[in-house]
Amino acid sequence: MKIIISKTKDFVKERLMNEKSGHDYWHTMRVYNNAIDIAKEEQKENKLDMMAVELGSLLHDIADHKFGYDDEDRKEIIGKFLTKLDVDSQTIDNVIHIANNISFKNKDKKNTINTLEGKIVQDADRLDAIGAIGIARTFTFGGFYKRDMYNPTDEDDNEHTIAHFYDKLLLLKDRMNTKTGKQKALKRHEYMNEFLDQFYDEWEGKR
Ligand code: ADP
Ligand code: NI
Repeated sequence: MKIIISKTKDFVKERLMNEKSGHDYWHTMRVYNNAIDIAKEEQKENKLDMMAVELGSLLHDIADHKFGYDDEDRKEIIGKFLTKLDVDSQTIDNVIHIANNISFKNKDKKNTINTLEGKIVQDADRLDAIGAIGIARTFTFGGFYKRDMYNPTDEDDNEHTIAHFYDKLLLLKDRMNTKTGKQKALKRHEYMNEFLDQFYDEWEGKR
């Protein structure tokens, strides 16, 4: 298992090291650590395939639709890579299902993740969008696209980075799949609320 995991980390590093839209190698590693942390807790109550959790989290952003790849491409790229490493076919199917269904595309879209391993990886990915890391990633994204960090007079209210908290980040805690994921999300959610309170007060010179 160790060799498979380290080869997968190398594969991801090579493919995502220079990615600048918020899905770089370090994002993958944080999701990997979150996923293992959640899985260890969930494993006390449910049987699960830890290998699928580890590989699924490491490969969840490989050949993303943002870069023009589709479901078939991911199936092919991930399937080929894991088959070479002699991973069993059930685990491979589980990992491909994760890569193809993890994305939170819009707030009305139905969740199509249907394995416990996938639910864990999806929670782990969402956790990386909230809390201190989530705040940092959001402002990094905003800066990359040259957006204002905040504009209280913005009529459409969605052109500045603070708006993204209300469009997406503050909704995530209610979309968690697992008990452990939800617990972690609640702490990160509170931290974002504190950040926003402080931010608005400082904006007005109140603190
Ligand atoms: P995912 O692929 O996980 O759905 P996204 O591509 O939507 O994630 O987002 C990647 C990172 O960029 C996240 O941390 C997210 O909060 C941030 N981000 C996405 N859209 C915006 C936006 N409009 N303003 C600021 N940050 C954003
Ligand atoms: Ni991700």
